[in-house]
Amino acid sequence: MSLGVFGAADYDLSVAQRSTVLVVDFGAQYAQLIARRVREHHVYSEIVPHTITAAEVAAKNPTAIILSGGPKSVHIDGAPRLDPAVYDSGVPILGICYGAQLIAHQLGGEVARGTRGEYGRTQMARITGSKSTLLTTDIPAEQDVWMSHFDAISQVPVGFIATASTPDAPIAVLENAERRIWGVQYHPEVVHTPYGAEVLKHFLHTLANCDPSWTMGSVIDEQIALVRAQVGKQRVICGLSGGVDSAVAAALVHRAIGSQLTCVYVDTGLMRKGESDQVVETFKRNMGIELIHVDSGAKFFDGLKGTTEPEAKRKIIGELFVRVFEQHTGGVTDAEFLVQGTLYPDVIESGGSDGTAAVIKSHHNVGGLPEDMTLKLIEPLRALVKDEVRRLGSELGLPDEIVWRQPFPGPGLGVRIIGEVTPEKVAILQEADAIVREEVRLAGLEREIWQAFAVLPDIRSVGVQGDERTYAYPIIIRAVTSDDAMTADWARLPYDLLERMSSRIINEVDGVNRVAYDITSKPPGTIEWE
Ligand code: XMP
Repeated sequence: MSLGVFGAADYDLSVAQRSTVLVVDFGAQYAQLIARRVREHHVYSEIVPHTITAAEVAAKNPTAIILSGGPKSVHIDGAPRLDPAVYDSGVPILGICYGAQLIAHQLGGEVARGTRGEYGRTQMARITGSKSTLLTTDIPAEQDVWMSHFDAISQVPVGFIATASTPDAPIAVLENAERRIWGVQYHPEVVHTPYGAEVLKHFLHTLANCDPSWTMGSVIDEQIALVRAQVGKQRVICGLSGGVDSAVAAALVHRAIGSQLTCVYVDTGLMRKGESDQVVETFKRNMGIELIHVDSGAKFFDGLKGTTEPEAKRKIIGELFVRVFEQHTGGVTDAEFLVQGTLYPDVIESGGSDGTAAVIKSHHNVGGLPEDMTLKLIEPLRALVKDEVRRLGSELGLPDEIVWRQPFPGPGLGVRIIGEVTPEKVAILQEADAIVREEVRLAGLEREIWQAFAVLPDIRSVGVQGDERTYAYPIIIRAVTSDDAMTADWARLPYDLLERMSSRIINEVDGVNRVAYDITSKPPGTIEWE
């Protein structure tokens, strides 16, 4: 593929421009949450692999470094380590969990092999007589912390002091204010540690002196300048999917280059109820963005006829999408750039930042790009996580209905209809899905729930309605809470809300006589049914 990708280097604004915190990834996905928390304190953060050398760290000119947790014991062969020279760099360091044990282990303290470990909520107490620079006086002497460790630090390195302990971690906090190195055995990044945010904030803003200037306003200004510099007077195209990311990316690029941007919206016929109208309304009418709206449902239904296997359906939808997209951008012959709403977790998940976190799933946006496309990519959201994209969208003036829209799979309702996809089934599912989403919104739960939608299985069951025997489809309601879609829990929706959804779906949607609620978490299930 001849895509000239503007990769991380082109977008790397960290060097010398703003405070940057490097979150060193020791595995098991802890790093992503820490990186998000740092950004919530308005400091830019980047995840880097633990194999990073001191020279590479220096080149990034970080204001602070956080060593993440990890699943290993420091004692096993091949346990990940930090280049020891990083400890001498003078950059303030906070080690968390495995990161704290590593500080003890690498700087001459001791980590005792675990006997029983601590998992979950634990009481932590200050060590009497010790003077902490990390735990400020606002934090009570005894507090709940969230633990997840087997080994425990048993002796601090020379020059360090221990300032707090728990029943199974005699050294739960270690500090060397002079060297500016601190370590906490517990997880300050999780919500179950009530004073966790305080500690991170104090480390970032006070101990490490990070400038809290990472705001969505600053991102807009930077990206506008970058996009203008990259694009010059050339033409840019953007495929809108109806989702949040492509919408925000398009709005941002439009703010930068105005009418040099043309958006293409391929309506696959597999969109949610009212979705296409909303996209056209928002982009064309409200924002004045040039929009090519391609109504191609018939093509997709034709292509999907007779296909039941989920991956085969995805492939058909993806290929058709690319074909339709190409056909309709064919007229924009002078386009040099393509906008994509790639987010930071996509960059990490696809191994782009060579982090250690295991690849959980391959990323699957609609299609993929045509092989022979000679467009260069613009990815203005590449450094951002989902919450940030939403805030950015609001600052750009996008309506809540778009910004707070749930994630929606590229293949759309095609992967929420089990078995063959037909226009009739799509119509049933659109109606049922609209009811589920409307009821969630009316219950005020829209922002707490990651996704709530309806699934149409390929079975029918017997019912009785008005003395008549019915033989019709069930609808399955799926509602999950999640931070990032990598793991999810089924949402504990109130019974009366479920009841309203159920009775409305059965009364209002023809062809449905039963409603079931999916109570499977991820893992072992996935969020979608296909
Ligand atoms: P799963 O079902 O794997 O979904 O737990 C995780 C998240 O990804 C979305 N998803 C998709 N997104 N193309 C996409 O662009 C797809 O084929 C696809 N399949 C799942 C899903 O909605 C959830 O947010």
